[in-house]
Amino acid sequence: MKKRQELYAGKAKSVHTTDDPDRLVLTFRDDTSAFDGERVESLARKGMVNNRFNAFIMGKLEEAGIPTHFDALLSDTECLVKKLDMIPVECVVRNIAAGSLVKRLGVEEGQALTPPTFELFLKNDALHDPMINESLAETFDWATPQQLAEMKALTFKVNQVLKALFAEGDLLLVDYKLEFGVFKGNIVLGDEFSPDGCRLWDAATREKLDKDRFRQGLGGVIEAYEEVGRRIGVCIS
Ligand code: ADP
Ligand code: TMP
Ligand code: ASP
Repeated sequence: MKKRQELYAGKAKSVHTTDDPDRLVLTFRDDTSAFDGERVESLARKGMVNNRFNAFIMGKLEEAGIPTHFDALLSDTECLVKKLDMIPVECVVRNIAAGSLVKRLGVEEGQALTPPTFELFLKNDALHDPMINESLAETFDWATPQQLAEMKALTFKVNQVLKALFAEGDLLLVDYKLEFGVFKGNIVLGDEFSPDGCRLWDAATREKLDKDRFRQGLGGVIEAYEEVGRRIGVCIS
């Protein structure tokens, strides 16, 4: 499938049309952003690592019955996906307190969250992805109540599948963000699942092996992503 016109260049991926009006090519770049694009750096190999990582995870989710946009890997940094009408709402599940939850509520980082929490954020960098709720999403037509219910159920189903998968690699799935869209009337998981959009800690030492290494200037960012990939069986180059 040939790339045609660039539709959109995001902070980490570029989106191209193809000959098929229902399919897009996503190109994973090495660009790495934090704080809603306020800090951007290029990290060698990141595009390739995240593209392969995402393909592996999307395959596992499909096997578990979760509808995803993923069709095929096209190259080291490109994949073919279904073209979704994206819903501008980010779904976040947390198993362990970290990140913005710790800042917002003053709870201790590392506290187990039972049951896991579910939050919605508006995808809007200029507004720093503000937290929203079902009522706001419905009123402003970002998503219908039925779409929100499906997104929530699928986001928790992803938790079951991925907590178990990462546990096999002695990793804790601390939290993650998912984006959904609509394809031919159905809710489908879109965007990516990679260490850019989740938190993963070593189960024994609680060492951070995700994008917090970049946000917090800890170094070894891509080495950590590769370590996670190696532990769960992702084939990286
Ligand atoms: P951002 O927009 O946050 O900077 P990226 O750099 O990852 O993010 O850009 C990818 C863009 O493509 C995002 O806006 C995402 O919502 C969108 N997207 C992801 N998957 C699909 C899809 N299957 N169909 C249409 N758009 C998609
Ligand atoms: P937070 O602690 O900053 O709210 O983030 C929770 C999780 O969701 C964390 O793994 C990072 C991810 N996330 C993104 O990747 N992009 C976003 O825009 C948001 C709000 C969260
Ligand atoms: N995903 C957002 C960004 O790329 C937020 C973050 O990762 O800190 O800027």
